Amino acid sequence: MVNRVSNLESTEVARDSQSHLEFIGDIDPTTVIPDGSSILIVSKDQSYLTHGIHKFPAKFFPELPRYLIRRFSNERDTVLDPMCGSGTAVLEAVLNNRRGVGIDVDAIAQLLTKVKTTPVCPSLLKNVVSSLSTSIQSIDKDGEFDGIIPEFNYRDSWFRPFVLKELAMLKKCIDEVPRLYADMERDLLFDIRDFLRVVLSSIIRDVSNADSHCTRTVLRKRIIKKIAPGDTISRFLTTLSKQVAAMNELWEVYSSSARWDVQLPKSTAIHTGLDSESIDLAVTSPPYINAVDYPRTHQLEMYWLDLLDEDGPLANVKRRYIGTEAVYKTDYQGLRVTNLETLDPILARIFETDPRRSYIVYKFFDDMEAQLTETMRVLKPGGHYCIAIGSNLIRGVLVKSHEILTEIATERTGFQLDRVFFSKLIRHFIRIPRKERMLGEWVIVLEKPR
Ligand SMILES: C[S@@+](CC[C@H](N)C(=O)[O-])C[C@H]1O[C@@H](n2cnc3c(N)ncnc32)[C@H](O)[C@@H]1O
Repeated sequence: MVNRVSNLESTEVARDSQSHLEFIGDIDPTTVIPDGSSILIVSKDQSYLTHGIHKFPAKFFPELPRYLIRRFSNERDTVLDPMCGSGTAVLEAVLNNRRGVGIDVDAIAQLLTKVKTTPVCPSLLKNVVSSLSTSIQSIDKDGEFDGIIPEFNYRDSWFRPFVLKELAMLKKCIDEVPRLYADMERDLLFDIRDFLRVVLSSIIRDVSNADSHCTRTVLRKRIIKKIAPGDTISRFLTTLSKQVAAMNELWEVYSSSARWDVQLPKSTAIHTGLDSESIDLAVTSPPYINAVDYPRTHQLEMYWLDLLDEDGPLANVKRRYIGTEAVYKTDYQGLRVTNLETLDPILARIFETDPRRSYIVYKFFDDMEAQLTETMRVLKPGGHYCIAIGSNLIRGVLVKSHEILTEIATERTGFQLDRVFFSKLIRHFIRIPRKERMLGEWVIVLEKPR
């Protein structure tokens, strides 16, 4: 695969870089990536084991966290990803004999991370899946239907009527699993049900009328998908058999691993609830300012999986996210001043044309300062914090997030800068305006002083 680096980033890299390294697949952990250099990873492992179970915006290539974990921690150490998304770094931590701790505010992210890191015994899975497949295949798609099609805004624009019915039939069969196997251990049943729910979720965007390649859930007049009656059910069954094979492989690795220790606290990146000095290494990729609206990205999946809670409208859910665009008008009446050299000129320039967006940028870095403070608290002295983050173009102003985060980390929260390098990653499942696209990200490696 060939990576195209935007002019914006290539100019930056050409100016800043001392060297360029390319890796096909794994990066040997003894490799020293020099400060200021750039790397290109041609990933081989995006679907390795359960890594490929579900799309997720701005997902890590497994090779990057794998390298950082092997380089900056030891076996049996505890590795935290405080904004773990689909759980790539958490899975890599356990696969490399570390204890993996993953936190995310997003309900889909929590479910994906749990399923990706929870091996299920193949014989039990086979039993459940074969009787589930039998009951799905015996569904009379044209007959009477007693399942429940969830109610949500514009539902009938997002899905054709026969797709709604087939999804509801699949959902009903999956929801019945715990009742049908009442003699099986409860936790195990729920692990299997969650796995099936993730498989269902993974096909929802494709069978909807929404653009499958856009992070936001949007309808486009020019995109008319060819979905025939029966396609939703057959797509589910095909995907299921592929993911069962992946889960069986995960089980094999799990069975031969010395330990498998995953912790997924229901907390946030700013208030992790973790003990002070309990983490050996933190690795994360924070949300992009202005680029991905996570609740909106996964709104159809959340409706079908009953994951929208009593917080009600999406706007309330959105406020929990770092990088949220759901802000109050009263917040952006005046220009915010941070006394950060790298940030204040940017806030002022954006404020001239768009006070709201200037505040969104301010709030992102304010939240990230709180997040860095929290990571500093939970890290052991000498522990590292690796953050992968891209630059953004906001209202024509280049926001070099890595420079701003480095200033915050070193001047405000007490981290020492170990190194920064540029990783030219190929972004999948990200379609944002060309000018604002980030085709690579900076990896900041910080160290908590001993
Ligand atoms: C770029 S994604 C991480 C992707 C991840 N590296 C992967 O491989 O899938 C950023 C994540 O930060 C999460 N996030 C945003 N605000 C958060 C918060 N306050 N606490 C925890 N997670 C948060 C988002 O829900 C999103 O999943």
